[in-house]
Amino acid sequence: MCGIVGYIGNRDAYPIIMNGLKRLEYRGYDSAGIALYDGETIQLCKTKGKVVDLEASVEKEISKTGKLGIGHTRWATHGIPNDINSHPHFSNSGDLVIIHNGIIENYATIKKELINRGYIFNSDTDTEVLVNLIEDVKKKENVKLGKAVQIALNQVVGAYAIAIFDKKKPDEIIVAKLGSPLAIGIGDDEFFVASDASPFIEFTNNAIYLEDEEMAIIRKDRDIEIRKIKDDSIVAPYVQELQLNLEQIEKGGYDHFMLKEIFEQPSVIKDTYRGRLLADKGIIKLGGLEDYIEKFTNADRIIIVACGTSWHAGLVAEYIFEDWARIPVEVEYASEFRYRNPVITEKDVVIAISQSGETADTLAAIKLAKEKGAFVYGICNVVGSTISRATHSGTYTHAGPEIGVASTKAFTTQITVLTMIALKLARIKGTISQSDYMLHLRELDLIPENVAKALKKNKEIEEIAAVFKDATNFLYLGRGYNFPVALEGALKLKEISYIHAEGYPAAEMKHGPIALIDEQMPIVVIAVNSNHYEKVVSNIQEIKSRKGKIIAVVTEGDTVVREMADYIMEVPNTPETLSPLVTTIPLQLLSYHIALMLDRNVDQPRNLAKAVTVE
Ligand code: G6P
Repeated sequence: MCGIVGYIGNRDAYPIIMNGLKRLEYRGYDSAGIALYDGETIQLCKTKGKVVDLEASVEKEISKTGKLGIGHTRWATHGIPNDINSHPHFSNSGDLVIIHNGIIENYATIKKELINRGYIFNSDTDTEVLVNLIEDVKKKENVKLGKAVQIALNQVVGAYAIAIFDKKKPDEIIVAKLGSPLAIGIGDDEFFVASDASPFIEFTNNAIYLEDEEMAIIRKDRDIEIRKIKDDSIVAPYVQELQLNLEQIEKGGYDHFMLKEIFEQPSVIKDTYRGRLLADKGIIKLGGLEDYIEKFTNADRIIIVACGTSWHAGLVAEYIFEDWARIPVEVEYASEFRYRNPVITEKDVVIAISQSGETADTLAAIKLAKEKGAFVYGICNVVGSTISRATHSGTYTHAGPEIGVASTKAFTTQITVLTMIALKLARIKGTISQSDYMLHLRELDLIPENVAKALKKNKEIEEIAAVFKDATNFLYLGRGYNFPVALEGALKLKEISYIHAEGYPAAEMKHGPIALIDEQMPIVVIAVNSNHYEKVVSNIQEIKSRKGKIIAVVTEGDTVVREMADYIMEVPNTPETLSPLVTTIPLQLLSYHIALMLDRNVDQPRNLAKAVTVE
């Protein structure tokens, strides 16, 4: 969580930092701050609230001069979101200025020692402790800033991506990384630093992604020096050419990133399988999988680890893998798995799913699984992300940047990848018939078209949203493949509208949630064509007799549920196995419209962050 951005070069740093912060705001938006340095005075401005609030404060408080700058947008961990706890933070001498994304776990002990040595702290943050530790080392050891950073970081436990500069060195920024992401953009005689490449993509396509336990000394007009934090040894820089473009990270005429990302789904699902799915020829090509196919076909079981929406995609995968490939699957919250002392063997395959590729719990689960000898396969969206590098192999979803905090296109593209993997394994293992295999390939190829049709119902869904926007509780029900969709629908609603919502397997309703049903209660039921259709119809009857308000997701042309439901949201007919890819669309739109009508911040819901790099 938290976004960091920095610049050193010949341009004015201010607009670069400010635009960068706006692009990184999805990472946290409790407070924001900026420090600019013109070689004489450090201009510091920070404020509780969003980047626009910072922009307004800058206008009133500081001059925007300086060719060196750093900025921060915060998701609060230590200390409440207020002006003082906002970054950047100064060291006691006023010489060092730092921004930090992460958590220093042993900050309290270090702080105590520093207080004993006469240091004074203004904020409650772990970051202010870190900058003073670096200052203390620098003075005590009489070393340059880079060396002081290296020594100090060896004393801290936790996670960090930091950028720090010294008033006495106006041509230098030092950055370091462990656990939190850090990209360095390389221009001509100028350098950019950021939590992801979005702040500098219009200036350069060349970037270095620091690995964990690496730091970089960045000097204007000089080459970057990368060192290992542990032993100070030099590392050869690996410069990547980025594929990202500016258009992908802008709203493209939509009011919100979330809406843009919902509407992008037909094209990004296609991007996910482009060149990988050759439906007519009956071929699925997945490079990362083919090299390790025997790990999968010989696996005793597959364990899927993930968080949030990615966990829901994992639940869909459980149905697909077991149904087609006949491999037992367990789906685990990464945060529970990592601390549970789970039984893992070398015959297990672990699939880690993560949009950002940075989620701390998922990363820790991967490390644990690797330690125990399991083969770990990653499904990530962000190319070059920490998780994509920490896994043995994997597949990218190619959904393009997802900026809305509520995940939408990541979910459907993750399911697309998982579907291709399951189909391929089933074919190799002979657990699916040729005709079923070919049918599903063709149907998968039709999904973008079917998602586009589902999106055409946007207006009708908006009308349903208007009816229910003031409800205080929602229930979402689904069975089989659509049970995880019910969970995801409920999550979308609570995330962005702050309405309490629960997802349940439809049949479980009788074991508790039915007590909540009265005439005020909207119940979203996924009742598309499936093996469980009749059973879901019975569940709807049970709701009706308790006077609940039924909003049903039905297959186009459905007549039975249409008669019973108060409102319907139609989706095109697809095989049940692929139906989550279309049934999730109306639920995304319903949440979006309700949140909008309630005047919520759709793209940046309160208290949340897009990439959760703390556990
Ligand atoms: C956060 C985001 C969710 C996301 C989850 C897992 O909670 O707000 O949208 O599903 O993290 O993120 P990942 O990047 O690992 O998929």
